[in-house]
Amino acid sequence: MTAATGGFGPLLPEERADAATLVRQGFGIPREYFDRSVELFGSGVMRGLRAGPEAGRAGQLVACAAVWPMDQWFGGRPVPSCGVAAVAVDPGERGRGYGSALMRGLLEEARAGGAALSVLYPATLPLYTRLGFGRGGVSFDWSAPPAALSAGPPPADGWIRRTDTSDASQLAALRRSLLATANGPVERNEGLWSFALCPDGVPSDVYTLGGAAGPEGYVAVAPPADRKLNVADLCLLSPRAVRLAQSFLAGYRAQIDRVTWRGGPDDPLVLMAPERGVRADACDEWLLRILDLPRALESRGYPPGVAGELTLEVADALIPENSGSFRLRVSEGRASVRPLPRALDGAEKAGGKTDEAALSLSITALASLYSGHKGPYVLRQVGLLRGGEDAVALAARFFSGPAPWMPDRF
Ligand SMILES: CC(C)(COP(=O)(O)OP(=O)(O)OC[C@H]1O[C@@H](n2cnc3c(N)ncnc32)[C@H](O)[C@@H]1OP(=O)(O)O)[C@@H](O)C(=O)NCCC(=O)NCCS
Repeated sequence: MTAATGGFGPLLPEERADAATLVRQGFGIPREYFDRSVELFGSGVMRGLRAGPEAGRAGQLVACAAVWPMDQWFGGRPVPSCGVAAVAVDPGERGRGYGSALMRGLLEEARAGGAALSVLYPATLPLYTRLGFGRGGVSFDWSAPPAALSAGPPPADGWIRRTDTSDASQLAALRRSLLATANGPVERNEGLWSFALCPDGVPSDVYTLGGAAGPEGYVAVAPPADRKLNVADLCLLSPRAVRLAQSFLAGYRAQIDRVTWRGGPDDPLVLMAPERGVRADACDEWLLRILDLPRALESRGYPPGVAGELTLEVADALIPENSGSFRLRVSEGRASVRPLPRALDGAEKAGGKTDEAALSLSITALASLYSGHKGPYVLRQVGLLRGGEDAVALAARFFSGPAPWMPDRF
């Protein structure tokens, strides 16, 4: 259903209380938490959608969301992205198309502002897949008894020091190495740093881990409660940092029954746990929307030593500029993209023969391929991608790399 809308745009100061109610009804978030989040991210992040003249409540706020620019890292390079959170529609107005209209407004604005991607955690899939979002990566909630993490005494050549977090730049510098070697994590702004280090508004204590040459990681822990220790944030860049974190967390074993933390599928603490007992308590999938296809493909990095050319035949019902044939050329870790004239469109050539050098897929499937969350073989197996053996094999090499994940939730 298409809603008659009275305008999408920045949330007006006089609409803030109504937006807080929408968010409370959407997510159970209390007013104080809403206000704190808006202050942290800046009041400019909120967008609103008002009912149109036909609705009987013309001009009134019916939907809102938060949106902010940030870089998201893929293949060792930052890609301009747009985070979306707190998408909420008035409970009395749901199912009338307002949610879709709000999202279309957000995506158009983000693309016009230079974002190549948009990323969000969905509460429901159909709304977003219809708008071209695809499965982008994961975020795990891991937990373990502290003894399961214990790998013996801390390494003699390492140190653990409590760190003042009033200036997050030292942590950001450490985290930069993680961004450069992983797929999916986002560069944090002040709001995301605050969410990471003060989950639920409770400040955590940060301990930096290192050796003779300097810091090699950090662990941020909330005060233990209910026999549980919540690791609010974690960055382990070396084998020594992993060993130091293991012994640090195992040191809580008399006080707690479980340690919890967020990570990816290849989490260092999971990989190096010497004993059974580590468990994935939850795995949330985040969604990715390619807003500007050439910009997204040209901004990310690619594995060194991989070179070649592919034709991508892409269908995007919402953003016509992303539809059509594109020549993707990869060499020396970078890509260039050239739109092809319509006459050369189509992976399917005359006589039903498949062009060996072409892949045909929707913008939704391209998001999963782009992030590395799903490879071309499985996408083809389930019918989300068409292409010959050579093209699929080449795409598998272009988009290979660490499984995409991010610790941040929004
Ligand atoms: C999810 C939500 C934003 C959808 O807004 P909406 O205005 O109802 O959405 P639309 O009318 O544009 O419908 C688009 C699609 O969303 C889905 N949808 C509609 N109402 C929904 C509901 N109440 N709950 C979940 N999904 C819903 C449907 O798939 C719908 O497609 P369909 O009409 O073909 O079935 C709204 O239900 C809401 O505010 N929910 C609570 C907060 C929330 O979960 N937000 C999403 C966080 S990512």
